Amino acid sequence: MHSFLELSADFEKRFDKRHFPVHPATLYDAAQYILRIGGKRVRPVSVLMGCELFSEINDDAYAVANAIELFHNFSLVHDDIMDKAPLRRGFETVHTKYGESTALLAGDVMLVVAYEQLNQIDTTKIQSVLRLFSKTAKEVCEGQQLDMDFEKIAMVSLEDYLNMITLKTSVLLAASLQLGAIIGGAGEANQKHLYEFGKNIGIAFQIQDDYLDAFGDPEKFGKQVGGDILANKKTFLLIHALSVANDKQKEELNQLLQTNSEDKVSRVLKIYADCKVAEWASTLKENYFNIAIKHLEELAVSNSRKAELEKLARYLLQRES
Ligand code: IPE
Ligand code: IPE
Ligand code: MG
Ligand code: MG
Ligand code: MG
Repeated sequence: MHSFLELSADFEKRFDKRHFPVHPATLYDAAQYILRIGGKRVRPVSVLMGCELFSEINDDAYAVANAIELFHNFSLVHDDIMDKAPLRRGFETVHTKYGESTALLAGDVMLVVAYEQLNQIDTTKIQSVLRLFSKTAKEVCEGQQLDMDFEKIAMVSLEDYLNMITLKTSVLLAASLQLGAIIGGAGEANQKHLYEFGKNIGIAFQIQDDYLDAFGDPEKFGKQVGGDILANKKTFLLIHALSVANDKQKEELNQLLQTNSEDKVSRVLKIYADCKVAEWASTLKENYFNIAIKHLEELAVSNSRKAELEKLARYLLQRES
């Protein structure tokens, strides 16, 4: 079993090539741009790890890993339009650099190339791979729509937030692991535990992302810090703050949600800090981490093989970018 770092170096080497034709450069350069500016490659490496738990990594696993990373980047390019985000991975977002219409098309074309990758795999596996991939892709769209719907309503419950982040983020991590396991020839019970492991880690991963969006180091985070506050995103930070705040803080928060004043971010951050959201974030993340580990324990493979997955999970939940 290789480590996350070995597999990400290996994936990066193979993925670092041109994925699109040359003409028209106005479209394909935009698509190539987002793939070249970095990214942790967590999902494709999860595919490779899911496969390697059960057999050697083969060309089909690499094809699925490529498809997953292309899909992820497609979702980011469209997400940055929806979130009006200026920065991604420390660089200008695609729509900022190339315009919104080109960014839409660049995203579309990445999704098509992702399906072309899947089309190459062994015919005995292709149906189950396509079924899971397409189900997941639809769920991501559903989660993204809920995320935008929530911007416009005053409050959402923690349960609704968790459902939304499960759809927009965690099912893709879950599916990446399960797709790898399908390629590796895993049985259904193992596939299910791996999916649930990924889903719970994915929830904790988005909780960490929402935390970093408010409190991350701008140098390391690579995205605009405070963007979620400006967009009135209903993150667990806001939900928690509103549930523990005193009347004065609540009133101020509700007022801030209706303005776009210059000091909006700093004032919201102050209330978040006073409401101890950092402690709450740790508790919440740990809760999902523990559920994930239970599923890892249920996996019928040797402990030494599982160890790398646990390391991956710990790495993801402590990330700063
Ligand atoms: C960003 O995912 C989108 C979220 C689900 C939070 P990553 O943090 O994995 O982004 P990259 O690919 O490493 O840039
Ligand atoms: C994005 O969630 C999830 C998807 C791209 C599907 P965010 O909007 O929080 O992701 P970032 O913070 O822009 O990476
Ligand atoms: Mg975003
Ligand atoms: Mg978003
Ligand atoms: Mg975010």
